[in-house]
Order: sequence, then structure tokens, then C-alpha cells
Amino acid sequence: MIRKSSMKVSLIVAAALLFSAVNVWAEYIKTDVVQVMRQNVAKISEAKTAAAKDDYYTAAAAFFEIAKGMNGIKPFNPYKGEQANWDKTIDAVVAAAFRGIGACAEKDQAGVNKQIAELQALNKAGHSAHK
Ligand code: HEM
Repeated sequence: MIRKSSMKVSLIVAAALLFSAVNVWAEYIKTDVVQVMRQNVAKISEAKTAAAKDDYYTAAAAFFEIAKGMNGIKPFNPYKGEQANWDKTIDAVVAAAFRGIGACAEKDQAGVNKQIAELQALNKAGHSAHK
């Protein structure tokens, strides 16, 4: 009897913890988003400048910082627009950044610039839906 009820309590506590953890995880943190966005601006410019100088290592590292930053804010609930679209747009940013790294592997300057243009298009799409 005692064991059964204490198990029930444990389950309720576990469920409550899980629920609150999910809530905390998904909360929109404006300062984090703004920081990632400002980093996006800086890293896009860094990737472009570096690739123009054939410094593909620096360009690839900049693309990765974009992917990492955006992946970090993906769990947030956007204050405007649908979560599914937020997730999809951020996944597209990460994929474009990865393709940018691939272009760096090939020392392909036009390929780098193509992915930068893609990131700028995703910037517009993300802002019109969520900003
Ligand atoms: C990848 C290229 C992107 C660049 C360069 C960029 C740049 C910026 C900049 C400069 C700001 C203003 C930050 C400030 O207040 O100083 C901003 C804000 C914002 N961006 Fe982006 N962005 C990009 C992509 C995205 C995407 C894909 C999304 C959504 C999926 C997004 C969502 C937002 C939101 C919600 C804000 C408002 C933040 C707040 O004040 O709470 N951005 N972005």
C-alpha cells in the first residue's frame, strides 16, 4: 500500500519536473536571440570577407558559428508566428551554413556566396514571419 502510493507520488513529481523543464527549455529569451542575431550579421560578413581572400578555414568557422547559434535558439517559442515555421526556417539556416562549409572544403568562392545569399533570403523570411 505504502509502496504503491509513494510510487504514485514519485510519478507525479517526475511528470511535474519534466513538464516544468520543457517549459523552461522553450521559453523565449530575448537577450539570447538578439545576441545570436548580431552574431549572424558579424559572421556572414566574416565568411564573405574571408572567402574573398581565399581564407576558407575562417569562412568555414564563421558558417559553423551561425549554425551553432541558430540551433541554440531553436527550442524557443517565437513570440510571433508558428513554432513549426520557426523550426523549419532555423533548420534551413543550419543547412545553408553547412553547405557553406562544404563550399569552403572545395575552395569554391561562388558556392560560398550562394549560401550567403541563401542566408540573407532566410533572414528576410524569418523576420517577416517572426520578428
Ligand atoms: C541568418 C541571417 C539573419 C540575420 C543576419 C539576422 C539579423 C538580425 C538582427 C540584426 C536583428 C536585430 C537584433 C537587435 O535588436 O540588435 C534580428 C532580430 C530578430 N531576428 Fe534575425 N537574422 C537572421 C535570421 C533570422 C531568422 C532565420 C529568424 C527566425 C527564424 C530570425 C528571427 C529574429 C527575431 C525573432 C528577431 C527579434 C529579436 C528580439 O528582439 O526579440 N532571424 N535579426
